[in-house]
Amino acid sequence: MHLGKRAINAQMTIVPRSKYYMGIESSCDDTGVSIIAVEEEPSGSSCPTGKVLSNIVCSQADIHAPFGGVVPKLAQEAHQKSIDHAVTKALGDAKIEYKDLTAVGVTIGPGLSLCLRVGVTKARDICEKYDVKMIKVHHMEAHALVARLADEVPFPFLCLLVSGGHNLLLVVEGIGRFVQLGTTLDDALGECYDKTARALHVEAVPSGGAALEALALEGDERAYTFPVPLKKRKTCDFSFAGLKTSVRLTVEREREKIEGADISRQTKADIAASFQRTAAVHLDERVRRGFEWARETHPEVKHLVLAGGVAANKYLRGRLNEACEDNDATLVCPPVHLCTDNGAMVAWCAIERDTAGLPIRPDPDLLNKPDDWLDLRPRWPLTERKDERAFLAQRSAKKKGLHTSLELLTSAE
Ligand code: KG4
Ligand code: ZN
Repeated sequence: MHLGKRAINAQMTIVPRSKYYMGIESSCDDTGVSIIAVEEEPSGSSCPTGKVLSNIVCSQADIHAPFGGVVPKLAQEAHQKSIDHAVTKALGDAKIEYKDLTAVGVTIGPGLSLCLRVGVTKARDICEKYDVKMIKVHHMEAHALVARLADEVPFPFLCLLVSGGHNLLLVVEGIGRFVQLGTTLDDALGECYDKTARALHVEAVPSGGAALEALALEGDERAYTFPVPLKKRKTCDFSFAGLKTSVRLTVEREREKIEGADISRQTKADIAASFQRTAAVHLDERVRRGFEWARETHPEVKHLVLAGGVAANKYLRGRLNEACEDNDATLVCPPVHLCTDNGAMVAWCAIERDTAGLPIRPDPDLLNKPDDWLDLRPRWPLTERKDERAFLAQRSAKKKGLHTSLELLTSAE
């Protein structure tokens, strides 16, 4: 397993002749701003070398915890409160000024429109005032590529992208080039962790997933048997709604046994561990099939990148490491602080796109807008290319409100 071999040193001294990229992330419930430096002339490596000079994340976990999910209006207000401070601190920690910036990368989607607006407005203001280039970033691509900041991962690679809102198995062929092997038919695993934490009355700090992972360490993962999702469907699709319901019903049954009182910490830990094991079995099974499917067309795939907030989970990393070893592949996990939403992944994605000369073209559906219009893409798929064996691929007609995919809007300058 690779856990970020390349140096990520927040305290490094500034190297002359570096380019400085700011990354701004505000798509959901974390305000992230980071500065990454890259050498002006990369040494011919397929992947530039970046140094994270600062990475400020203002978490909203405390704000949303009582509601059991992200409340968009509260999230927007919290982003507005912290964005200026986060930008100033990111510059200060990196010991640079606005005028030193080469570009500002910013997440324009997918995500909550109210929240995206805060980050994109800030990025636009900086770029206009200091005459700096703005680089638009797709949140999921940023999650998928950040592994290359820490480790030299060559294209193509298999990527399991698991967050609060997404659950994708992809072949990442290059920048803006993806084949989707599978996605979730209902919930994402991160959401399932969050709802399970809520059902168990576990405080979702720093997140439902992290809290549940910690609790599961005290539990017996064989104490309860939950059905493994989609056992009979021999695809790379995912499903977590059934598992979420089974866990909730088990919690209710345990509470009934003690006449509505709160269940013991040990019972909670046993349920958490059993839930986590079942989720891991489901992921493991899909990843093994993912290698098979990916290698039909891309026999050179040698890496699995585990990305997104759920990739911070050490138990899941251990399980998927076995699947990789059995497939003669290496599991690559970004450092934990780069798995959950952060500005560094956005800055890095901007660097990858800038270095490759691959900006995101304007969405043809969105031309002729007034000058003050902001390009926000709340519902924005990565690609149209989906493995035809996937359940959802058969129903991929363009849905209302969906933006043109990132892949179709990626082209050389
Ligand atoms: O990528 P992310 O920060 O935001 C989205 O793009 O959704 O992912 C957040 C999700 C949350 O559902 C959170 O509970 C989950 O990642 N998460 C974890 C862990 N840390 C965060 N899930 C399982 N184990 C963890 N250690
Ligand atoms: Zn995310």
